[in-house]
Amino acid sequence: MTDYQDHTLDGEEVKTDFTKDMTYSEYLNLEQILFAQDTMSEEHDETLFIIIHQVTELWMKLIIHEMNSAIKDIMADNFRESFKKLARVTNIQRQIIAAWDVLSTMTPSDYLKFRDALGNASGFQSYQNRMMEFSLGYKTTHALKIYEKDPIIHAKLKKQIMTPSIYDEAIRAVDRAGFNIDKKVLERDVMEKYVPDPSVKEAFKQIYLNTEDYFELYEMLEKLVDVEDLYSQWRFRHMKTVERIIGFKKGTGGSSGVNYLKRVIDDYFFEELWELRTEL
Ligand code: HEM
Repeated sequence: MTDYQDHTLDGEEVKTDFTKDMTYSEYLNLEQILFAQDTMSEEHDETLFIIIHQVTELWMKLIIHEMNSAIKDIMADNFRESFKKLARVTNIQRQIIAAWDVLSTMTPSDYLKFRDALGNASGFQSYQNRMMEFSLGYKTTHALKIYEKDPIIHAKLKKQIMTPSIYDEAIRAVDRAGFNIDKKVLERDVMEKYVPDPSVKEAFKQIYLNTEDYFELYEMLEKLVDVEDLYSQWRFRHMKTVERIIGFKKGTGGSSGVNYLKRVIDDYFFEELWELRTEL
């Protein structure tokens, strides 16, 4: 009779009796995660389509977690701690940019076979994407409206939109370091979209012109540029992948599709940081 209590694998003793202990699957909740790919059609590529969205949403969850923690670090002038988290964010961004290569293996013919099954569902309704954007200061309110019927998600979005963004906190840190930031910027309603301000640009310019004196602030601002740069790259790859798969058809979320996605690529999170490059 086989003894299932103890097994060896390539000569290594491995534990196989988990009647009393937690398994890997239990710890990771794999039953919930790996049974959450129900397709709406019988089409082969729908599994890829679902998994690529789910993987991106999981990475977004970690980005939001890291961003919110980095915001707190900057509030406390713990710049080095924030740099570590922002470096993690940029590495995750590289992962989700690379994911477009996997999705690009799906052709228009493959996608058309199941597109109708999606109805009006679209990444446009991704509340984590909005939370990520709120943490960066891109405060749009349409996601709040979409989730009015779901109190838990609505509350999460509300909390994030009411939290100062990483850009708000970076500007406040620059002010604390002795730069003269206009009061109306420091006391602005953080739920509103940020409006670029000359006092902020001037302070940033001084930091970039005197990097030795303000190295930590300079590094913080460059880390923000890294995040925005990669965010734009993600948006670009999304737009180009969409064009490759659906051309200029309207989106399932009701927008003009590629033209809408092209427009948002031109939006800035940290406008002064980009403008000052021309002026240095
Ligand atoms: C075949 C693949 C895909 C197509 C054809 C597609 C198409 C579109 C279109 C047309 C929009 C504009 C809104 C609309 O009218 O629906 C959109 C928005 C969006 N999609 Fe995708 N998408 C695809 C894959 C993905 C993937 C894998 C993700 C990852 C989560 C994603 C995330 C998003 C997000 C976050 C938005 C909102 C962008 C914004 O408002 O700035 N999409 N998508």
